Amino acid sequence: MFYSEDVVEEIRTRNDIVDVISSYVPLKKKGSNYFGLCPFHNEKSPSFSVTREKQMYHCFGCGASGNVFTFVMEYENYTFPEALQYLAQRAGMELKTRELSPEEKRQADYKSLLRQMNKDAANYFYYLLSQKQGQAARNYLEQRQLSNETIKKFGLGYSDKYSDDLYRYLKSKGYKDEDLKNSGLVTIDEKGATDKFWNRVMFPIMDVNNKVIGFGGRVLGDGKPKYLNSMETKLFDKSRNLYGLNYARTTRRSEMIICEGYMDVIALHQAGFTNAVASLGTALTSNQASLLKRYTENVVLAYDSDEAGVKAALRAIPLLKDVGLSVRVLSMAPYKDPDELIKALGAEEFEKRIREAKSSIMFEIDKISAEYNQNDPEDKTKFQKRAAKRLAYIKNGLERNNYIEAVANQYFMSQKELTALVNEYGLTIIEGQEQTQQKQNEYRNRKEQKEENKDQSQKLLLTWLVNEPKLFENLSGVITPRDFIQPIFYDVASRLFLQYEEEKKVTPAKIINQYTDLEEQKQVAALFNTNFKMEVDPENAEKALTDIVKKVKQDSIEHAMTQSKDILEWQRLIEEKKKLQNLQLHL
Ligand code: CTP
Ligand code: MN
Repeated sequence: MFYSEDVVEEIRTRNDIVDVISSYVPLKKKGSNYFGLCPFHNEKSPSFSVTREKQMYHCFGCGASGNVFTFVMEYENYTFPEALQYLAQRAGMELKTRELSPEEKRQADYKSLLRQMNKDAANYFYYLLSQKQGQAARNYLEQRQLSNETIKKFGLGYSDKYSDDLYRYLKSKGYKDEDLKNSGLVTIDEKGATDKFWNRVMFPIMDVNNKVIGFGGRVLGDGKPKYLNSMETKLFDKSRNLYGLNYARTTRRSEMIICEGYMDVIALHQAGFTNAVASLGTALTSNQASLLKRYTENVVLAYDSDEAGVKAALRAIPLLKDVGLSVRVLSMAPYKDPDELIKALGAEEFEKRIREAKSSIMFEIDKISAEYNQNDPEDKTKFQKRAAKRLAYIKNGLERNNYIEAVANQYFMSQKELTALVNEYGLTIIEGQEQTQQKQNEYRNRKEQKEENKDQSQKLLLTWLVNEPKLFENLSGVITPRDFIQPIFYDVASRLFLQYEEEKKVTPAKIINQYTDLEEQKQVAALFNTNFKMEVDPENAEKALTDIVKKVKQDSIEHAMTQSKDILEWQRLIEEKKKLQNLQLHL
């Protein structure tokens, strides 16, 4: 690591977690903990807790947990070195604050280099737009009725007609060819360097923390391709970001609007719909659906009205429903996209269409009906069968009946007959689902469930040890770090046991320091935050402890047996397992 363990630990202790988090999230004291609304998922009642004693936070709603570094890494999207810098500064500590050279930065962290490079490029494009050579682009944006305020908010820019001016600019800032290549902003070959974007209006793409991670570039007028997008980099993962989400995440509206294009998002925000987002030149992914679910329960699809848009909507609906979002679809007719609709009919009409947006199921059935000629009896029957089949997939009975009624009314069918048809399909579907479900369950029961139970007892024990360090004394000679089978559990347990041995107390937040990867930090933090109270009845704490320890020990012995072929070792393990039966722990 870049900084010594001591420095990292000093930064941590000088930044009390309650103070740091309070500056982001209002917290209220309740008992020995502080509670607030979780900043990592959308909630109405506070389940996010911060403990001064442990110097950790934990959300009982979404499971987010960690120490002060984890928090700023997650909240600000900082890398570990960035989190260190930030917190050192906050505590008034001197931590090599000099400007690092691009090469040093590369070593410290590649992602932050790419981030800096994208930011520099965005500033450059933004600057060019205001210059003489940006005149045509300014005219173009004006013709598309974007205000200066909007241009500024979205940081729009212009890439000019020279083939390598961005390259030269970034070189002058000290970036190296190799890194520039990896940013996707330029290509470099035997013939020299070429900027990826020329003579285009530039749309910087920002992550939820307002950091530029890539670009879309549009031709001024009718050239092809209409849009060019940055390639994916370590920084720019198209499937995990949404255009406009950095603004939409704080919207007060109760739903999010998903559209297809950058211009749609911008036009909607300008018209007051600050809840609009778009996927990034690709089809919506399930990761993007989960990302949205953090911020809202309801989405309205505002895709283009052409065939491609309808297809894209039909593909997006199941992804969004799968993560538990309620989905409605807005009618754009007779316009092509939200940008055009708003320009033609205004924000009020758009608002009205949001209110009138169809449920995704009615939209799907509508699209099915369009494939058939309703005046042809044979075609009509085919349509009815397909509609019934779709309705049969609705799990909730009440909801299914409501839709049957709505479809019957809209397509002039008898409700009774439609119900009969739906039930007919329902039986075969349910049987099919039950069979796969059953198979899945069997598999889970046999394998995963067993693994999960093992993990669960080990996690419980780790959490318990952290909550009541005097247990280290009770368990001395019974449990050792070796009894924690999973590598990461073993690693954490070793550090905990060592801490207790050396200091007679444990500091879980310090152990998290040892991991510089955010995902690892979160995983480790979760080990100290197992939902302990739910599982351990305080009246029978001694018995519960004995049971958990027995379970951990037994799993550990069984694991050792699978690892060993030595007969003597086996005998010893079998002996140990027998003795375990009589174990009785006291608190
Ligand atoms: N897109 C792309 N590459 C293209 C065309 C489109 O990446 N060659 C992506 C862009 O993200 C674009 C979105 O698909 O924003 C929607 O495309 P389209 O409907 O064609 O563009 P509009 O958003 O309507 O753009 P404009 O209004 O500027 O014509
Ligand atoms: Mn458009």
